[in-house]
Amino acid sequence: MTAVGIDAIEIRTGRLKLDLPNTFAPAQGEDPEKYTKGLGLHASSFPDSYEDIVTMGANAAHRLMERKGLTPEDVGRIDVATESAFDNSKPVSTYVAGCLEQVYDGDFHHANKGERKFACVAATQAVDDAYNWIRAGRNRGKAAIVIATDTALYARDDPGEATQGAGAVAMLITEDPSLVEISAEQGYGSADETDFLKPQQQFPSVDGKRSMQVYLARMREAVEDFESVAGATHPDDYAYIPYHTPFPGMVRKAGLLGYRHMIRDTSIEDELADDIGRQPRREAFDDDETYEEAIRDYVDALAETDQYKQWYAATVEPTLEISRKVGNWYTGSVHIARASALRDAYDKDLDLEGQRMLVGSYGSGAQAEVHAETVREGWREEVEAMNVDEQLDRRYELSFEEYEEIHDAHNHDVDSDVEELTTPDSEFVFDGWGRMGERQYRYVE
Ligand code: HMG
Repeated sequence: MTAVGIDAIEIRTGRLKLDLPNTFAPAQGEDPEKYTKGLGLHASSFPDSYEDIVTMGANAAHRLMERKGLTPEDVGRIDVATESAFDNSKPVSTYVAGCLEQVYDGDFHHANKGERKFACVAATQAVDDAYNWIRAGRNRGKAAIVIATDTALYARDDPGEATQGAGAVAMLITEDPSLVEISAEQGYGSADETDFLKPQQQFPSVDGKRSMQVYLARMREAVEDFESVAGATHPDDYAYIPYHTPFPGMVRKAGLLGYRHMIRDTSIEDELADDIGRQPRREAFDDDETYEEAIRDYVDALAETDQYKQWYAATVEPTLEISRKVGNWYTGSVHIARASALRDAYDKDLDLEGQRMLVGSYGSGAQAEVHAETVREGWREEVEAMNVDEQLDRRYELSFEEYEEIHDAHNHDVDSDVEELTTPDSEFVFDGWGRMGERQYRYVE
């Protein structure tokens, strides 16, 4: 079976930056360490007043096409995943295609376009759609572009405000990909939940603490479902485990529970038994409450072992590097976690070709998806070509007052006219409203 997967990735961050410990925390009267140590976040990315989900997505896709030498004729499908859409009918992918047609000869009239919605897991679903389209042989030799793009803003003073972010990830899905092959095996954990939702409103209604429990429960189901087709997972099987990362502290919890699950009935559990005992088994307890308490004690002890710390430092911690600097990008979040992992391997000069990653996506409402990816021969060149550090370094740093203005500028219910803080340079920008209420865009040289 020919390999299908991700050939290339481009990341586009919003042009503004909010420093969480030094600017946001003092204004909120909070301890900076709640952000850096508790949530694990140092900064958030924000869009300038001329940026939005379309400009960030189109700018990422444009660089992707330029870098891979593609013309519109080479692309048979453009799918956008977002939970920040501003139109209930016309998909963001049509706006993105319209932008790209301004800078290319030819058009995308032949390309199938759509928009995927399921909170943050939607971009992984769109990658799946592209994978299936290629596997079914319906792509006529063409590639698919999948774009995850969001302005992940919360209402002011919502606890989620600390985890905001904005950016886009464009991925090229092809046969015989340069970066990673996606496994045919996948697992799901899906249930009707009301932990985080946006019922016809821009900013989410969130039950933050419960959302974390739902994330862990669905992720566990997805791992078990994946194991039912791919066999048991083991910590040594995966070079990296990129998770959906609303904030790194969430992944710290998921990583620990994942490790406990993977070492059950393995020689690692046996080795640790002298120090921390064996994992509690349900049949040894009279009721759920005492069993769950025993599990919590075991997990607390496990977190302190050298085995766990070393595994986490090598396999999970490196996936959080970009996220710490940009916040939650919703649909893009797991895809920047994968990119962080690959960059880590590049920086450490690891021989990653042929090694596997276990990728855990998640979207509130709620659904987790788990699949494996095998790193391909061309991964090093692809990582080298990404310019994410350059983009992060050139972000304009907001004062708290500017942050308040920019939040208003992107609030659909506030009529504000905010001056741009950065100067557009070779990029698509928002250019006002058309006669039918559509958003308009132009390319600035
Ligand atoms: P909060 O109440 O502001 O924060 O809300 P907290 O008091 O729970 O503190 C956070 C952590 O910092 C805790 O760590 C504190 O102990 C620690 P933990 O105990 O959990 O390990 N802390 C400190 N550490 C060191 N020094 C200090 C200090 N103070 C506190 N001084 C919450 C946190 C996550 C609830 C909030 O930010 C929120 O509502 N976020 C939005 C929802 C969210 O991100 N949920 C995550 C799972 S759902 C998901 O991932 C889906 C999502 O991406 C949406 C989608 O799918 O579309 C959100």
